[in-house]
Amino acid sequence: MKKIAIFASGNGSNAEAIIKYFKKKSKIGQVSALLSNKSDAYALQRAKDSGVATYVFKSKEFLDNPSDVINYLEEQEIDLIVLAGYMQLIPKELIKVYRDKIVNIHPALLPKYGGKGMYGMNVHRAVIENKESESGITIHLIDEEYDKGAILFQTRVTIYSTDTAESLAEKVMALEHKHYAEVIEKLLVELE
Ligand code: GRF
Repeated sequence: MKKIAIFASGNGSNAEAIIKYFKKKSKIGQVSALLSNKSDAYALQRAKDSGVATYVFKSKEFLDNPSDVINYLEEQEIDLIVLAGYMQLIPKELIKVYRDKIVNIHPALLPKYGGKGMYGMNVHRAVIENKESESGITIHLIDEEYDKGAILFQTRVTIYSTDTAESLAEKVMALEHKHYAEVIEKLLVELE
């Protein structure tokens, strides 16, 4: 079995969807750990409730010197890192160790609506303000330039004139829950 570590900073609804998918449906992968830079992240509770190991670290220490986190990932023999609502840069040292093995999800169609400040509701507000006719999700690899790694998957949703940032956020979140685990599983197959 390939081993997945999820990094999450907040609510963790994607983390939970991924944990459930791999428990039920996958013969090739399992979620072995959930790591967070926020000790009060609800994602940690979701992991514990599912029997997934958790590891909390401090953002600043991790950015200055990620060796403790890297050691933990190596001890757990993690094959793939999945960012699911992880709100921090990933240090270059970790990107080097897990080259092409760190995947992220972004709630818009990159390269549009990516980069600085483009997270959470900011993304959906910007999309609605610009009167876009569609948005969607992007699942991509992480390299040294955050939102610019190779795109693995995109899917779209139509925006109607009645949509608000909130209604768009709901539609995009549903797409995330539907597709992220499947794309991760395909990536695991490629790693084999
Ligand atoms: C998702 O919209 C994801 O695209 C973004 O952060 C949000 C995380 O939500 N990177 P959750 O913590 O998985 O509920």
